[in-house]
Amino acid sequence: MTTENPQDLLKLAVEVAEEAARLIVERRRGTITVADTKSTVTDVVTAVDRESEELIRARILQARPDDSFLGEEGDDVAGSSGVRWVVDPIDGTVNYLYDLPTYAVSIAVEYDGTTVAGVVVDAPKGEVFTATKGGGAFVDGKPIRVSGCTDLNTALVGTGFGYDADRRQVQAEVVQHLITKVRDIRRIGVGALDLCYVACGRLDAVYERGLNPWDYGAGALIAAEAGGTIGGLHGAPVSPEMSIAASPALFGPFHDLLAEANPLRA
Ligand code: IPD
Ligand code: CA
Ligand code: CA
Ligand code: CA
Repeated sequence: MTTENPQDLLKLAVEVAEEAARLIVERRRGTITVADTKSTVTDVVTAVDRESEELIRARILQARPDDSFLGEEGDDVAGSSGVRWVVDPIDGTVNYLYDLPTYAVSIAVEYDGTTVAGVVVDAPKGEVFTATKGGGAFVDGKPIRVSGCTDLNTALVGTGFGYDADRRQVQAEVVQHLITKVRDIRRIGVGALDLCYVACGRLDAVYERGLNPWDYGAGALIAAEAGGTIGGLHGAPVSPEMSIAASPALFGPFHDLLAEANPLRA
C-alpha cells in the first residue's frame, strides 16, 4: 500500500470544494425549491444539493478511482486505496433555501479511518478553512487559533438542533439550562462552519447532538489543528451522539455544564 500525502489530498479537496462552492452560489441566482424531504418535513433537500454532490463525486473519483466516497445525499462508493472522501455538498441547506448568505461545502479525507485533511468553504463569502493532520489549521492560507476564553460567563456558544422532532423538547431544555450561564448562544445553521468558527475564535465553544460524519469530519480536524479540544460527553470521541469543540481551558467546564443538562435523554 502506498503512503498518502495529506497535502496532496488537501489540494484536490480544496480545488473540488471551491468548484462546488462556485456552482451552488451560481445556482442560487435562480429559483431554489424543495426537491424532497428526508427524515422529517423540516429536513429538506434541493436539486442543487444533489448536483453539487454529483460534481464532487465525479471530480474526486476521476482523479482517484480507487478511493471510497461517502456523501450526505446518498453516494456510498467502496474503493480499495484506504482513502475515503466524506462530503457534505451543501452544509446549511435551510439557509440556502431561504437565501440566508451562510452555507458551505465540506470535504474530509480519511486515510485508514483517520481524518488527515479537511476543507470547509463558506460559499457566499468565499472563505476557505483548511487543515491537515499535524500540519495546523488555516483560513485563506493564514494560520488560525482558538480563542483564549477560560470563563463560561464570557463564552459565546454555537449549537444546532438537527431535524429530529422527538429531540427538540430536550434540546430546548438544554438551551434553557445554558443560556443564563454563558455570554450568548448562536444558531448559525451550518455545523461545519460552527466548528471552523471555534477554530478561528469567532465562537468559544460549540455542541450539537445528531451531526453526521459529513458535517463534522473536516470541521473537527480544523478545530483540533487550531488548538481546540474536541470530544463527546464523558470521555467519548466526537460522534453522531454528541460533538463538542472548545478552547482547551473552556472544554472541561463547558462539558460539565452540558452534561448537567443531560442532552442524551432523547
Ligand atoms: C445541517 C446543518 C445544521 C445542523 C444540522 C445539519 P444540512 O446540515 O449543519 O447546522 O444543525 O444538524 O443536519 O442538512 O444543512 O447539510
Ligand atoms: Ca441535509
Ligand atoms: Ca450538513
Ligand atoms: Ca448537506
